[in-house]
Amino acid sequence: MRVNHAGEVAAQALYRGQALTARNAEAATAMSQAAAEEIDHLAWCEQRITELGGRVSLLNPLWYAGSFLIGSLAGALGDRTSLGFLSETERQVESHLQDHLDRLPAADARSRAIVEQMQHDEIAHGAKAETLGAAALPRWVKAAMRLTSRLMTRGSYWL
Ligand SMILES: [Fe+2]
Ligand SMILES: [Fe+2]
Repeated sequence: MRVNHAGEVAAQALYRGQALTARNAEAATAMSQAAAEEIDHLAWCEQRITELGGRVSLLNPLWYAGSFLIGSLAGALGDRTSLGFLSETERQVESHLQDHLDRLPAADARSRAIVEQMQHDEIAHGAKAETLGAAALPRWVKAAMRLTSRLMTRGSYWL
């Protein structure tokens, strides 16, 4: 849940950055709405971590700052690219959450319910970006994004 929490820190920072530099009002609204739901996710994860007696990642300020910067840059590349970035982010998050669900004990119904609801919302965020005209990203960008998220996953797991 600490890793999921860190992911939501990054997601809302990315989308806030993207909303800031978006040109089209519709794209900016989609970014802001997704960011607002990521903040809900953040709160659910944080609450669950508290219930389980855990702690959030010490690296969260770093994830926030880095993601906000990347989001602002992605937004500056134009709305279609930015929506493509959002769509690919959500695809990767969705697959991470599925992986987590596969490993979460069936008895931990509360954590499962949170992750399932997040997964449902992430799919909707990605679909919204697609309907607004998300561009397909080059393969190397997707690979770089996967590498970054792996770094974040490992970092948040240990720290
Ligand atoms: Fe989320
Ligand atoms: Fe999302």
